[in-house]
Amino acid sequence: MYAQALNAKDAAPAIAEDPVKLAVFQARIDAEEKIEPNDWMPAQYRRTLIRQISQHAHSEVIGMQPEGNWVTRAPTLARKAQLLAKIQDEAGHGLYLYSAAETLGVSREELYDQLLSGRAKYSSIFNYPTLNYADMGAIGWLVDGAAIMNQIPLCRCSYGPYARAMILVCKEESFHQRQGYAIMLAMARGTAEQRAMAQDALDRFWWPSLMMFGPHDSNSVHSELSMKWKIKRFTNDGLRQKFIDATVPQAHYLGLTIPDPDLRFDEATGHWEHGVIDWDEFNRVLAGDGPCNRQRLKHRRDAEADGQWVREAAAAYAAKQRKAAA
Ligand SMILES: [Fe+2]
Ligand SMILES: [Fe+2]
Repeated sequence: MYAQALNAKDAAPAIAEDPVKLAVFQARIDAEEKIEPNDWMPAQYRRTLIRQISQHAHSEVIGMQPEGNWVTRAPTLARKAQLLAKIQDEAGHGLYLYSAAETLGVSREELYDQLLSGRAKYSSIFNYPTLNYADMGAIGWLVDGAAIMNQIPLCRCSYGPYARAMILVCKEESFHQRQGYAIMLAMARGTAEQRAMAQDALDRFWWPSLMMFGPHDSNSVHSELSMKWKIKRFTNDGLRQKFIDATVPQAHYLGLTIPDPDLRFDEATGHWEHGVIDWDEFNRVLAGDGPCNRQRLKHRRDAEADGQWVREAAAAYAAKQRKAAA
């Protein structure tokens, strides 16, 4: 689902690059040219993109789980169909993104291995449980909403395959956001019990959604170079603020309360000021100790093991076809 700016520890020492090549590369970036897979690029640019795109792909795939949990319990056939369509979209996003990462010279098997072994990160938001059906609304509205804020600027990312993948992804995320908000609206206008479910979902997903934008700019190890190379266009805090400013009025329209007693509108800046984010919780979840980390990875590992025979059968069939054609 989502590109999350993570405070990863893999900021390897910069490799000395040919200054002439580096200058030409930077000039292309500054001229808004796209960098393509066969073009020269600094090793760190490649590494940063592999990390970011693969974390994004993993997030799309793991992000199917919290919602998959509700397909059989969505209240009507139409609601089930919408939820299924959204979850299938997320699988598609994962595929585009793994493919984009592969253009940088890393294999899909290696990327899967990084995820399944727990070495790779994915967005912390998917380690929270989905406890009631209104969570499907809150996830679409807030989580996909935050994803759009993150991903629209990625349509202009300097790396061509990533930027192009983001165009379709963003169109679909926009549908996801609207279907989520439509669920929230239906529940907020429903019975007292449904309104309470909608408020409960907002209470649980508000803060984790703000964490999706990653650490404060002052603590974000990757930001500066990513901005210079136009992988990122806005800082974590800048995107978070855009999201809050867009979302608070939507919550008011629903008649729901944002669970932040310090939230207030600053007339002078025109922005909503928010309270303190619990970064200890963010770091805990990112380090593997969120409410559902183990469950999510176990499910993914089981799915990989269950699909092993399919991959083997497909490979055997392809080998047979090749032999017959030879
Ligand atoms: Fe997605
Ligand atoms: Fe989505």
